[in-house]
Amino acid sequence: MEEEQEKRDKSEAGTGGGSDRTLQAWLAGIAIGCLVLAAMIVAYEIGKNNADTQVTADVPAATSGGSAEEPVAAGPGASAFTASCGSCHTLEAAGTTATVGPNLDDLQPDSALVLSAIENGGAGSGAMPPALLSGEEAQQVADFVAESSGSGK
Ligand code: HEC
Repeated sequence: MEEEQEKRDKSEAGTGGGSDRTLQAWLAGIAIGCLVLAAMIVAYEIGKNNADTQVTADVPAATSGGSAEEPVAAGPGASAFTASCGSCHTLEAAGTTATVGPNLDDLQPDSALVLSAIENGGAGSGAMPPALLSGEEAQQVADFVAESSGSGK
């Protein structure tokens, strides 16, 4: 009796082992299927990311094109004004906001008045130092102030 029981256990173990192997084969198949699917998804995502980076790579080119138009108050007159006059005068085009002397956007001097102001030191009160600039540089600043403050002369 005991031997028979053992045989039955063995054969049961045998069939059990057989069905485990079939299960393993199924699981392996499913696992491989999943890997293939995952690989396809990864490949798709990489392709999509490449497309994305191409799109973003185009953006800096577009914005750098826009910033090339930036210089508004350019020219030697503007930088000389900022350096020599900006500490005392407000002029929007030069980006200066000082209030020691009159606001030149309000005063709207023509270039002749600016030239004489540079030569004599403002209207001659002594508050503005004379001869801050001379020659071509004085003329460039005078033109810049006259044009950008609105007198246009
Ligand atoms: C240290 C401060 C100071 C600096 C720097 C200065 N100014 Fe003046 N400016 C004044 C003051 C103060 C007045 C008003 C008193 C006067 O006219 O004497 C004035 C007046 C003026 C006027 C009006 C003159 C008028 O007849 O009404 C003009 C134009 C002017 N400045 C242009 C300039 C220019 C251009 C520069 C740069 C080259 C400059 N200023 C630099 C202080 C300054």
